[in-house]
Amino acid sequence: MQYRVSPATCLRGSLRLPGDKSISHRYAIIASVAEGISRLDHYSTGADCQSTLGAVEALGAKVERNGTSVSIHGSGLDGLRQPAAMLDAGNSGSTIRMLSGILAGQSFESSIGGDESLSRRPMDRIMKPLAAMGATIEATDGRFPPLTIRGGKLNPIRYEPPMASAQVKTCVLFAGLLAEGTTSVVEKVQTRDHTEVALREFGAEINIESGVISIQGRPRLKARDLEVPGDLSSAAFFLAAATMLPGSELTLEGVGLSPSRTALLDWLAANGARIRMTNVEQRAGELTGNLTVTGAGFQGGVIAGPLTAALIDEIPVLAVLGAASRNGLTVRNASELRVKETDRIATIAENFTRMGVAIDVAGDGFSVPGLQKFRAATLDSFGDHRIAMACAVAALASDGESIIDNAEAASVSFPEFYDTLRQVRQS
Ligand code: S3P
Repeated sequence: MQYRVSPATCLRGSLRLPGDKSISHRYAIIASVAEGISRLDHYSTGADCQSTLGAVEALGAKVERNGTSVSIHGSGLDGLRQPAAMLDAGNSGSTIRMLSGILAGQSFESSIGGDESLSRRPMDRIMKPLAAMGATIEATDGRFPPLTIRGGKLNPIRYEPPMASAQVKTCVLFAGLLAEGTTSVVEKVQTRDHTEVALREFGAEINIESGVISIQGRPRLKARDLEVPGDLSSAAFFLAAATMLPGSELTLEGVGLSPSRTALLDWLAANGARIRMTNVEQRAGELTGNLTVTGAGFQGGVIAGPLTAALIDEIPVLAVLGAASRNGLTVRNASELRVKETDRIATIAENFTRMGVAIDVAGDGFSVPGLQKFRAATLDSFGDHRIAMACAVAALASDGESIIDNAEAASVSFPEFYDTLRQVRQS
């Protein structure tokens, strides 16, 4: 699908964003191995989280959908059964990596694959720890989906992932649910902690000490009724656009504000964005609140080291904001960006070039000078949801109507994105 975006003067109004993608995956997977019926409200509408629902359903957990409310019937840690066909993770790295942890501990063999983009994403990062726990996994060329997982009895391990990855951490902790004894993940750089928070909510024993997260195996998990907070990574597109367009005033309601994700807000505020946080409350271990953002002169800045890991999903849209900022943006240590839904360094650079925006790519990072003008152009998501939405934000600040090819990719995390943007944009 092609989508046309015309320039906007500012964004105004008030929005509630769809449920957080990361939290939705975790709640659904944990609910499928808990005992009883969990009701998950404000579950993500994104295709990725629907892939997770389809997969747990194919594994025998009954799933009832009622709008954005989802009920999942779990039959306990040993309640899943062999799927009739290959599990389909679609475009979702989270689904395949997280669910593999559960599949590794099953008494049956299963296969899980996905679309063309997913089939190019590295899985050796989860295959290694799962093999160390005793699972046998086959993959294309030893590391790409589809995966065939022969599970069984797992041994607990202590594992230090070589990269900062919440998906790898989650995979190991999920496998640890099914192993006898204590499984630990050592994190050099802290990543989002939704798995730890959610597992505790469902009744698992989780211990966290100096970056070591430990889970006691074989807990009895109890079904829960939970509401998924709004997705902060989806909010990022609106925070960046409203900051960039003077005269904006936009309120985002009920956004997830996990301290493991809010480096984004701190970094934006430290560099000139004006964001007010109100009505902050804690529910089921997760903080939520309202964010009001007003247009402001943004200075730009540097994203490097642990900050790169903390902002990894937001970098495409921060690159757009960086090009419009006073001093520009430099991103370093971002090799993980090259193995997302697309090589995001390459797809950002390609779209910037089409808009006449200068970008200097160097290895695992890039620099964008500030005070640049965006020229209307035909852009391309290359099938990547965050690139589609970042292109739309760039188009808002451009000098005419832009076209986004493969714009439908946004539905992977945010199917309502274009309609939502239309609601708040002022021409
Ligand atoms: C996610 C972790 C991150 C992130 C992805 C969601 C999660 O991936 O990019 O969108 O929910 O755990 P990595 O673990 O590969 O960094």
